Amino acid sequence: LRQFFSQFKKSAESKPTELLSPPLDLSYEETIFRTKRGFLARKIGQYLGLDQAEQDQMFNRSLTQSSFLQDTDDEQKKECILSLSDQMLEWNEQQEDMAGKVKSFKLPTNLQNAMLKAYEIHKDDLFTPLFKPKEPVVECEKHQEWKIYRDVLLAATQGQFLLISREEAENYRDGKVLCEGVIMESSDIPICRDAARKCFDKMDIHKGKIMGWLLVLSEAITNTIKHAEEGKMTVLENTQTNEVTFVIEDKGPGFALDDLPNKILRSGYSTKKSLGQGFTLMMKMAKKLALFTSPKGSTLILIFEASDEKEGRKNAVG
Ligand SMILES: Nc1ncnc2c1ncn2[C@@H]1O[C@H](COP(=O)(O)OP(=O)(O)O)[C@@H](O)[C@H]1O
Ligand SMILES: [Mg+2]
Repeated sequence: LRQFFSQFKKSAESKPTELLSPPLDLSYEETIFRTKRGFLARKIGQYLGLDQAEQDQMFNRSLTQSSFLQDTDDEQKKECILSLSDQMLEWNEQQEDMAGKVKSFKLPTNLQNAMLKAYEIHKDDLFTPLFKPKEPVVECEKHQEWKIYRDVLLAATQGQFLLISREEAENYRDGKVLCEGVIMESSDIPICRDAARKCFDKMDIHKGKIMGWLLVLSEAITNTIKHAEEGKMTVLENTQTNEVTFVIEDKGPGFALDDLPNKILRSGYSTKKSLGQGFTLMMKMAKKLALFTSPKGSTLILIFEASDEKEGRKNAVG
């Protein structure tokens, strides 16, 4: 992949005059297309960890060229992000199954996931017809459908998984904040996990239990990085209920209702090229899960019993 980028950069650098001078007589549609493609390429580059200058370079290149798909003999071009962005917009035009198409391409997994992430997050801006009015952002819980999903998921999980509203999410913040952390990039996973570990080590909790909690925390934080853009972790302790709570907030695209049961309940289900075991593990380890989700972000709440198992059951009964 690195080889391909350096090749790509070289070819971009060799045409410096082209870089900042897109033709001025482009049609409206062509201008929109090139801008969308540049934006998409920039996002894929960002999710792959390219720096700002490299992202800008791709954006500029997109403005200067009508297609990156023409030269199909040219392996470097065929594999470059811009050509993939081109391809994705084309698949969309042809109403192809985007995830299926991307997954079927023989590309490195991180590149595929960056493409799928860009697709999921920017689906509404980039992959809908130009003048289609956007669905108004509605508070989901006011809809009958939302209530049905909430009831069915709660029943199917014997009361373990609850879909909640934004206001309800605030009710889960009772107790003392043990630690907080920002979630922006992969390196934040061990930072957050270690911060939480330090708090738990000070408490009187079985080591094995701590290991389990940290594993779940890692899965939730990894999901924020993999499926959403940025987020925040808060760990709370409620001594009255004897519970430890993880609150993981993000500014991602949210969970579509119709796919929620698959994502939460089906082991091995993933919208990326991934194992799809995160929620399976969370459901196995946490006492309760609550999820607020909207197209502008989600808040996942994971509740654990701080006391030992036997005591936990005693509390539950009495
Ligand atoms: N924070 C999130 N925001 C939006 N979608 C998410 C988030 N976390 C998980 N998902 C969705 O739920 C699916 C299942 O998650 P998970 O069980 O952890 O599997 P995996 O991460 O391996 O795909 C993901 O494929 C993704 O579509
Ligand atoms: Mg996951």
